[in-house]
Amino acid sequence: MIFRQLFDKISSTYTYLIASAAGREALIIDPVLENVEQYIKLLKELDLKLVKVIDSHIHADHISGIAELRDKTNCVTVMGDKTPADVVAMRVADEETIKIDGIDLKALYTPGHTSESFSFLMKDRVFTGDTLLIRGTGRTDFQNGDPRDSYNSIFNKLLKLPEATLVYPAHDYKGEMVSTIGEEKYFNPRLQVRSAEEYIDIMNNLNLPDPKMMDVAVPSNLNLGIDFNRQKVNNGIEPEEFNKIKKDPDSVLIDLREDIEIEKEGKLKNSIIIPFPKINEYIDKNKDMLKSKKILFYCAHGHRSTLAVQISKSYNYSNCYHLIGGLKNWKKEGLEL
Ligand SMILES: [Fe+2]
Repeated sequence: MIFRQLFDKISSTYTYLIASAAGREALIIDPVLENVEQYIKLLKELDLKLVKVIDSHIHADHISGIAELRDKTNCVTVMGDKTPADVVAMRVADEETIKIDGIDLKALYTPGHTSESFSFLMKDRVFTGDTLLIRGTGRTDFQNGDPRDSYNSIFNKLLKLPEATLVYPAHDYKGEMVSTIGEEKYFNPRLQVRSAEEYIDIMNNLNLPDPKMMDVAVPSNLNLGIDFNRQKVNNGIEPEEFNKIKKDPDSVLIDLREDIEIEKEGKLKNSIIIPFPKINEYIDKNKDMLKSKKILFYCAHGHRSTLAVQISKSYNYSNCYHLIGGLKNWKKEGLEL
C-alpha cells in the first residue's frame, strides 16, 4: 500500500494520499486548494490514477481542493450524506464503505466539530478529520458544532475502536503526526473527564477566536459542486425531455453510480451500470457500437454525468447527453424509475 501524509503549512492541514499498488487507483482525503498542483505531480511520479477525493467536513480554515482535483483529474468527489450543500458527486452514509481498487474505507458519522463531520476507518488506521485531534478535539462553537455530539462521537464511536488503531487527524498545530486510540484515551487532556457534562463544560469555555479564513472558506466550500449552468452547457437535459429521449430505441442509457448508491436510490429502467471511473474503459471497448447510438448518462446529482459528457466529447462523440441534477432532480419532478 502507498500511504502519504502531506502537510499544508498555512492552515496546518494534513492531507492523505492512499493507493493500492496493484490497481494504481488512488484516493485523497482533505486536499487543500493551494496544493493541488503538488498532489497532481506526486500522483504522476507514483504512476497513480486519482479515483476519489473526500472531504471529512466543510472546512472553515482553508478552501478545499476537491473541486479543482475533480476538474483536473475527473475523480469522484465524496462526502458524508449530512453535507449541507450540493457540493459532491457521491454521498456516503454512516457505516457504508468507500471503495477503490484494493482499498476499503468505512465511513463513520462523527458529528460534533461540525454537524456533517465524518471519520474514515481503514483497517489499522482511522482518519478522524477534526473530530479527534492529537491530544485535543475539534472546537464545537460554529458550523452547527455541538459538544454533546462531539462527546458521543469520540467516546461512543472512535474510542470503541481497538486501542492500537492509528489516529490520523486533519490538523495538527504542534507538529504531531500520528497517535493511537489508546494514547488518546489515556493522555488526551480533554478526554480525562467523568461525564459528558464535564466535557461539554470544557468545550463551552475554550473562548477561541474565529479562524482567519472562515468568512471566505465556508461559503466557498459550500459551492464546490458543478452547478446547473455548467451541467446545462455540457449537453445537459432536463428530466422531462430526458425521459422522452431515453425511449428512443437507438439510445444507450448509462448509470454512472456505484452499487451502494443504486441499492439505496434505485435506478432508471433499462439502464446499464458503468461506474464512472470505468467510463474510459467502456468507451474504448464499445467505440463502434456507440457511434450509431445516442448516449445518455446519469448519476446522483449530475456531477459525474457532466464529466462523462466531457470525456465522451474527447472521443469525438457529439451524440452524448446527460440528466441535469441527476436522479435527485428526476425524483423531484415525480418521474418514474
Ligand atoms: Fe474543521
